[in-house]
Amino acid sequence: MTSMRLTGYADKFSVHPGDPIKFYVNCNGPAEYKVEIVHLINGDTNPRGPGYLDKPVAADVNKTYKGRKQIIHGGSYGYVPDAKAFHVESFTLQCWIWPTAPKTHPRYWKHGAQGLVTKWSKDCGYGLFVNEDGCLELRINEHRITTGVPLRDHAWHFCAATFDAATGDVVLYHEPQVVYALDPVIEPVRQILKLAISHAPVPVGIACYVESLAPDDALAASSKPAGVVFAGKYNGKIDSPRICKVALSRQDIETMKLGAQPGLTERRNSGPSGRLSEVIVAAWNFGKGIDTIVASDEGPYRFDAQLVNCPNRAMTGYNWGGTNFDWKHAPHEYGAISFHDDDVDDARWSADFEWSVPETGVKSRFYAAKLTTSEGDEEFIPFWVVPRVGQETAKIAVMVPTISYMAYANEHVACNAGGAELFVYRVPIMQQQNMYLAEHREYGGSIYDTHTDGTGISISSRLRPILSIRPKYDHFLAQAPWQYPADLHLICWLETMGYDYDVFTDEDITYDGLARIENYNVIITGSHPEHNSGPQLDALHNYTQRGGRLMYMGADAWYWVHSYHPAYESTGRGVVTEMRRCESGIRTWRADPGEYYHQGTGELGGMWRFRGRYLHSVAGTGMSSEGFDVSSYFSRTPDSLDPRVAWAFDGIGYDEKLGNFGLVGGGAAGLELDIVDTMLGSPPHTLAVATSAGRHTEAYLLVMEDFGFNQQGLDGTTHPRVRADIAFHETPNGGGCFAFSSIAFCGSLPWNNCDNNISKLVKNVLDRFAADGPLPAPPADAIKHRGRADYDPTPPEHRSRKARGEFLSG
Ligand SMILES: [Fe+2]
Repeated sequence: MTSMRLTGYADKFSVHPGDPIKFYVNCNGPAEYKVEIVHLINGDTNPRGPGYLDKPVAADVNKTYKGRKQIIHGGSYGYVPDAKAFHVESFTLQCWIWPTAPKTHPRYWKHGAQGLVTKWSKDCGYGLFVNEDGCLELRINEHRITTGVPLRDHAWHFCAATFDAATGDVVLYHEPQVVYALDPVIEPVRQILKLAISHAPVPVGIACYVESLAPDDALAASSKPAGVVFAGKYNGKIDSPRICKVALSRQDIETMKLGAQPGLTERRNSGPSGRLSEVIVAAWNFGKGIDTIVASDEGPYRFDAQLVNCPNRAMTGYNWGGTNFDWKHAPHEYGAISFHDDDVDDARWSADFEWSVPETGVKSRFYAAKLTTSEGDEEFIPFWVVPRVGQETAKIAVMVPTISYMAYANEHVACNAGGAELFVYRVPIMQQQNMYLAEHREYGGSIYDTHTDGTGISISSRLRPILSIRPKYDHFLAQAPWQYPADLHLICWLETMGYDYDVFTDEDITYDGLARIENYNVIITGSHPEHNSGPQLDALHNYTQRGGRLMYMGADAWYWVHSYHPAYESTGRGVVTEMRRCESGIRTWRADPGEYYHQGTGELGGMWRFRGRYLHSVAGTGMSSEGFDVSSYFSRTPDSLDPRVAWAFDGIGYDEKLGNFGLVGGGAAGLELDIVDTMLGSPPHTLAVATSAGRHTEAYLLVMEDFGFNQQGLDGTTHPRVRADIAFHETPNGGGCFAFSSIAFCGSLPWNNCDNNISKLVKNVLDRFAADGPLPAPPADAIKHRGRADYDPTPPEHRSRKARGEFLSG
């Protein structure tokens, strides 16, 4: 296995016929690489299935390209271009900080000083830093003055420094907000430095400093601004940074905490007045424009800082009182920005090739630019050709869960989670992608990971190589394809069965709404559409209510609130998604109190369930449990004999084991499982037509949002809710939903060259759902009043097969 010397991304996930798509490649080593556009059919290398399959696509970009190295300048920061007003003789610097990794290990990937507010580079200028020992440090030219006092991590500290050029007086203040009984007193550090500040023509840095100006360095072209290389990326929060052009007294520094004074009158006062208002160079208010990537300066020069790599905003400030939880209602308590040294919003590479997709002749399908070298390197850059709205070419459409792909993008859990083995009941087997990402934190993590400082990652960009959205990639959770390559099982089945279909992505439906989907007879989901935007769920609801048909092919869907960050829409739609892991749900990290609202759209994050949009209401079933050892199979229930749905089982015996085979865990019922629950939104007329009840191991556990306290008996050997239910319900106007309720389900479709009972069931449903016109009306006696909790105290799937009066074979 070679190391990953080729990595790349495209500027789009979905591209319309006739439109261009650009590709960006880091070719680190090989002199050249070959490009072929391929139509992807199967991405699973498991020898028990059809194996990796693609079809070449004739394209004018199919040729050999010269390789070049490109790098990602990861880590978030703010900068303001150099300006004369920053070339001060004397100064006061001040800010609040909440450092998360003030002292790092010498082997830490970015060990060294961290910049707070700096106008400093190569021993010229001035700035406040956290030094490599984790202490506050003032730099003036080559001089470094420190308190020598370690900054407590995850705590607010007020920091300030003054320099008076006339007297040479330097004072450095470090004042923790909370002082414990046994904390030593921290006195201000005073020194005399008789010098003049040498000013370098470098930007002001927030949460960084300028390492060098390198306009001619090709690798610096992907920094922002291009050619300026920043270092000292800070981990933690900064609130209310200010720069003044005189050395203020401690008393005046206190007043300066108020900010700036734009336009004082006797009726209007917002900050320091009189002589203090005249010495302000910059006074940033991070509580303003939280939904943007600009840090607003309220000082006289309007030195707004550009924020790079999307640091977290809507973060509680030093003054958060614990009464306001929505930043929109109290922006002044959300004046903190949380920076991380591994944030990334855009790799900003130079494009290597661009393909104009022909207007005709290229079907709406899964594609990739396949990159290879003569030395065995291989990389795939996936994309989807999606018809323009109104130019659909099929009755069937596959909704590609790209938001979920982005949530899992470059996921590090296998490497970083200490309990991974317990979780999956086996030793996680790493892939080269896992190893590469562990060594290249600048490629950014997934929304399942934590930043290098331990805080949760809530932002994901698609403008970077996403090595998990690749064919031939097995995920440690399943030791099989997961998400993108798992969804190719469905594509392989559609292709093998000869269906014609279109594809569109979560992005397309979010931005286009109902118009994107209303002309299809049936929409098929991926295997794990867990992360969704509100507009997407609205569109699906409107679609099924108007007679549309939905085939939900997986499990644990409609779970987390995601939004696309509006500040990135100028770069393309759907570039950056955001998600916050709030009070409940399966969480690999937990948002801090007061930080549940998205910085981009301002909406409440967390689970859709806790915004009143029950998972079970979207397609009929919702998440109940998960486990990652082995998958099981389904059995039909008496509901499957109901004439409303019996057609789905044409050609399938009542006692057949449904899906006791498959490429994901060995069965159709596995990994994450959904059930019918009318109290959680399943329509009261939902039919649970098959179930895997009683067939899961102790590795399967009930989801935590479904129980209020811990107790024995929450696992698959005991708890009745640990199961998957295949379910059907009709929607108004001749529509309907079929939910297959297991992430492993699609892994059974290609089994035995698609000749199996899961394939037959799905074919029966798809053929019925894809047919023109409404579904046949249900029998008259099916129209009746139904309760919700009380309509059947012991639903059939909870009873033993004997109690159901079922014929027991064998
Ligand atoms: Fe998931």
